[in-house]
Amino acid sequence: MAAPCRVPQLLRASFGRFSGVAASARSFSGDGKTHFGFETVPEEEKAKRVYKVFENVAQKYDVMNDAMSLGVHRLWKDALLHAMHPQPGARLLDVAGGTGDIAFRFLEYVRSQQQRRERRVARSMQTQSWQDISSSYGTEGEDGPRESRAVVCDINKEMLKVGKQKADSTGTSAGLSWVVGDAEELPFDDEQFDIYTIAFGIRNVTHIDQALQEALRVLKPGGRFLCLEFSKVTNPVLAKLYDAYSFQMIPVLGEVIAGDWKSYQYLVESIRRFPDQEEFKRMIEDTGFYCAQFHNLTGGVVALHSGFKL
Ligand SMILES: C[S@@+](CC[C@H](N)C(=O)[O-])C[C@H]1O[C@@H](n2cnc3c(N)ncnc32)[C@H](O)[C@@H]1O
Repeated sequence: MAAPCRVPQLLRASFGRFSGVAASARSFSGDGKTHFGFETVPEEEKAKRVYKVFENVAQKYDVMNDAMSLGVHRLWKDALLHAMHPQPGARLLDVAGGTGDIAFRFLEYVRSQQQRRERRVARSMQTQSWQDISSSYGTEGEDGPRESRAVVCDINKEMLKVGKQKADSTGTSAGLSWVVGDAEELPFDDEQFDIYTIAFGIRNVTHIDQALQEALRVLKPGGRFLCLEFSKVTNPVLAKLYDAYSFQMIPVLGEVIAGDWKSYQYLVESIRRFPDQEEFKRMIEDTGFYCAQFHNLTGGVVALHSGFKL
């Protein structure tokens, strides 16, 4: 577990970029090459191949998520919301948001916070004198609390299309926008959002450092960065079981459910190429975030990293 609130290592960053281990984990190979799963590919090719993977899996993405994780991805996403604890009025940017799972949960969470607050106010009104009630008028803004909004941003139109259809069919479109955009070059002005999330998306990005810089740019001062990503399993027995399950079962499930072995093989391989918990935490600090920390979920199968922009 991280020591809380260490000053970002901006100076160390310039060293980290050129040092051996850090360089390979961060795709700073310097020869224009990066990894696509276990393959080495030219940098400009990775984004195209990642795009193809998610274009292929978009229609079956939600079903496959439940099948591969036996539904546990829902608990990981709930844990993200629990850590975020957003208040009514918060503005969320969910990058690599895909079919919208985080944004839906966010809006549901702030709605339930709002309802709880209204019930509390109603209860306190019942016990107030007429004088208390009249003096409490006008203490909230004339228009009431600001509406919470969530923007789902993803590079892949097909993933967003599935998410938008879900929102329309469940009547949950209010407060939601869907924007096509690259995590490495976000189509938003500086300091627009209170919260930036990226769930199971950052390992697919070619230049992780660039995506982190963009997260910092679009957050307001005081804003929070939260990232869910597959990480390194800490227990060696669990790690063996997890390896066997992911390499032997997931591509098979991909073939049976989505007719696509290769895309799911990439997903498994890309997890193994992603920096471990400590290394990714250092990258977050190097970007300039404060109070970078992480929590392991399911023994480190997934890690939840967070940091603040001050
Ligand atoms: C595994 S899915 C995660 C979707 C969603 N966040 C979730 O948790 O269910 C990864 C997503 O990252 C998106 N993605 C990959 N590279 C991206 C990039 N450079 N910028 C934005 N999104 C990207 C993919 O299109 C895909 O929708």
